[in-house]
Amino acid sequence: MTENLRGKIALVTGGASGIGAATVKRLQDCGAVVIVADLGGDTPIDVTDERAVDAFVAQVVDEHGRLDIAANVAGTSGVYANVADATTRSWRQTLEVNLDAVFYCLRAELRAMRAAGNGGSIVNVASSAGKMGVPGLSAYSASKHGVIGLTKSAALEVAREGIRVNAVCPGTIRTPMLRGFVGGDEETLEKMGRRAPIGRIGEPDEIAEAIVWLCSDAASFVTGHALEADGGVAAI
Ligand code: NAI
Repeated sequence: MTENLRGKIALVTGGASGIGAATVKRLQDCGAVVIVADLGGDTPIDVTDERAVDAFVAQVVDEHGRLDIAANVAGTSGVYANVADATTRSWRQTLEVNLDAVFYCLRAELRAMRAAGNGGSIVNVASSAGKMGVPGLSAYSASKHGVIGLTKSAALEVAREGIRVNAVCPGTIRTPMLRGFVGGDEETLEKMGRRAPIGRIGEPDEIAEAIVWLCSDAASFVTGHALEADGGVAAI
């Protein structure tokens, strides 16, 4: 189904690759004007820099008049290490990108939407690792649990203002991040997919579909939700 987002102004962090790039395309196909905030974007933006985030969102509002939709997709897998062996530096780096930056973006987006008074919809990308423990990926899992808590709390704060805040929790999705994590080994990717109840790995478009649905008025009564798009992993 194609949601009608004609004329909506949408911001996508992490929109230069993987799930973010698929989300940009899907939003554009639905008629939205999409602005990308990404380290690899035409004008690189680092979402861990709160001043840069504030300035970027202010610039979007200046140029387009308002912000209707935001998808906070930028993230990192972090490095693989058990807690007992992990460094403080790698812990902080993962939390900084996956949780602090989502807070900076969400805060700036909420302020912009609130100021315009027209409501809005924000989707934060968490992970199935935000709902379960993952040995070797404790910082990643903790950061994604944090994204879900942040999403639900913010949703409750702004529900009466017509602003909806939701999260999407993808399972294993074929993106450059996951490819990098398995050292580019396609067979390992396929093996990971076979472990999911659905028996295969997911594609970025399948997550973009869930994000765009939550962003759209089709999900007008949905807020504070963490939607699993994981091939059944959370149902195990
Ligand atoms: P990806 O690596 O293909 O894309 C991530 C994008 O975020 C890149 O374009 C990168 O430049 C950008 N980014 C990273 N740090 C940034 C920063 N500090 N400032 C601005 N941009 C930054 O990764 P993928 O797989 O598309 O991941 C997107 C989101 O989906 C992440 O939050 C990830 O944790 C989440 N996710 C991915 C899963 C997967 O299996 N691929 C599974 C579950 C969640």
